[in-house]
Amino acid sequence: MAKVKTVYVCSKCGAKSFKWAGKCSNCGAFGSFVEEKITNKKSGNYSIKSEISVKPLSSINETLNIDRISTYIPTLDEALGGGIVPGQVILLSGEPGIGKSTLLLQIAYNLAKNNKKVLYVSGEESAQQIFIRGKRIDAIHENVLILADTNLENILNAIEKENPDFIILDSVQTVYSQELESTAGSVSQVKEVSGKLTEIAKQKNIPTVLVGQITKEGSIAGPKVLEHLVDTVAYFEGERGHAYRVLKLIKNRFGAAGELAVFSMTSKGLKEIKDPSSFFLSEKPEGKSGSIIFPFTEGSKPVLIEIQALVSKTVYAVPQRRSQGIDINRVSIITAILEKELNLFLKDKDIFINVVGGMHIKEPAVDLPVAIAIISSALEKPIDKNFAAFGELGLTGEIRSVYYTDLRLKECKKFGISNIMIPYNSDIKEKGIKLVKNIKEAFSILFKGK
Ligand code: TYD
Ligand code: MG
Repeated sequence: MAKVKTVYVCSKCGAKSFKWAGKCSNCGAFGSFVEEKITNKKSGNYSIKSEISVKPLSSINETLNIDRISTYIPTLDEALGGGIVPGQVILLSGEPGIGKSTLLLQIAYNLAKNNKKVLYVSGEESAQQIFIRGKRIDAIHENVLILADTNLENILNAIEKENPDFIILDSVQTVYSQELESTAGSVSQVKEVSGKLTEIAKQKNIPTVLVGQITKEGSIAGPKVLEHLVDTVAYFEGERGHAYRVLKLIKNRFGAAGELAVFSMTSKGLKEIKDPSSFFLSEKPEGKSGSIIFPFTEGSKPVLIEIQALVSKTVYAVPQRRSQGIDINRVSIITAILEKELNLFLKDKDIFINVVGGMHIKEPAVDLPVAIAIISSALEKPIDKNFAAFGELGLTGEIRSVYYTDLRLKECKKFGISNIMIPYNSDIKEKGIKLVKNIKEAFSILFKGK
């Protein structure tokens, strides 16, 4: 096939060049040139359709009634908003080795058993390697078709020929289009490959999962270029040394974002964890200082998670601040607030924070439990096992309200946690629920005179 003309465009200032350059001569940015295809289409050059259907929003009364496709993993279906929608394009990203290929082979097998034809395109592994994995997790089925290829045009031909009910592309970084000169994994290739597959998915109504490896910088390769293109962005995370894996839906056009499904990696593939709260709390120590329960949620399904702090005398000139699962800058701010508001002397103490289970928590509701865990460890005063807390901490020590109060309280109660400390503005009057205005008040309720 003849090569399509391409041009290099500076992603910072838009300057064009026919040759790749390390430095943009227009804006001076380094490494900003990205290859793009030259198309003759002009923006605004729309073809005229004979029938255009524009209607008032108020006239649309039909409920969205789509037949969703089950993955046969109930918690995953639930997180997706009831299953996968025909034509839905899902970007599944995560660090190498976390279990993306395993999860997808399991889903492929579940669908295959239910008379769906699955095309599993693998650019990362050979058919043999996939077969070995399939043997290991008992997921071999004739309806799962393997194509170990990295050429986009071949993949498109295979889709045309086989007309599958479900497509998996593992991974988008390994596939290249011969119409572009850049190598597989470059921003332009990743865009082209995903763009083409999205087009096919929409045209033929085939649900498609694109695997995106996370690059060193932590961004989904092609610096997040795909996120706007796909319907759903799912992020698979967990600590490699641990068995837990959390699938978080960062974006979902067919359901709520922030939903999650929890799995455990076993010797025979991934097993869904139907009740993540009891799973995460199963190893919580009793009577130990520095440990607290936090009802975490970014969507409709809260999970009780243990937050741990270890505060110990430092041997260094500058005390250590380390954190796993929470932004270290946030921990530094919380520490500074505690020092100022409570006169707690922490300058000669190392502080270590850990979110048990390898979850990464970004929501500010974790501030209050982190603060309480730090105080508890510093004073060596344990927190009651039936206690939980959530709330954002402001710089003046005020405790600010957060989302999903009801859901969090419900989950706590389900597990017999009756003492819950929450922000003052939450407007809830119930026995056992303590509304607190600021960290001073929280401190005196929990630690004064004890
Ligand atoms: P994999 O699905 O290949 O990860 P990814 O596609 O995200 O790179 O999973 C790799 C890890 O999972 C590997 O270290 C082995 C482990 N594993 C199990 O523990 N049990 C299993 O049944 C399988 C298939 C893999
Ligand atoms: Mg893989």
